[in-house]
Amino acid sequence: MRHAVLLAAALAAPALAHAQAPASVPGRLLASNCFQCHGTDGRGGFDEIAGKSPSEIVNKLKEMRAENKPGEIMNRHAAGYTDAQLKLIGDYLATRK
Ligand code: HEC
Repeated sequence: MRHAVLLAAALAAPALAHAQAPASVPGRLLASNCFQCHGTDGRGGFDEIAGKSPSEIVNKLKEMRAENKPGEIMNRHAAGYTDAQLKLIGDYLATRK
């Protein structure tokens, strides 16, 4: 019985390590803030934002940030991020094909 438990623990360990790995992917946590509106991983919500080139996403976000109209959702949203953060978000979203 004890052996079975140990075996189960040994088998579970790599699976757990794997499940936790994505949290450390750069940009993922920042981009997760977008998914409430744009869908999980950037598709299935408003405009699809997954799988585009990083520069396309970043340029759009900078454009929207520069417009700075208080009534525009994305203008307000983009204003909350630094250039470095926008790049991390763009790089992450580009990997979601
Ligand atoms: C509160 C809801 C909401 C959140 C959160 C949100 N968006 Fe948006 N986004 C929208 C809506 C609605 C539009 C389309 C209308 C517009 O442009 O304002 C849009 C448009 C966009 C566009 C333009 C798409 C195109 O093809 O023109 C991009 C790029 C974008 N969002 C990226 C993001 C990113 C990246 C995040 C996270 C940092 C994010 N959005 C968070 C609601 C949201």
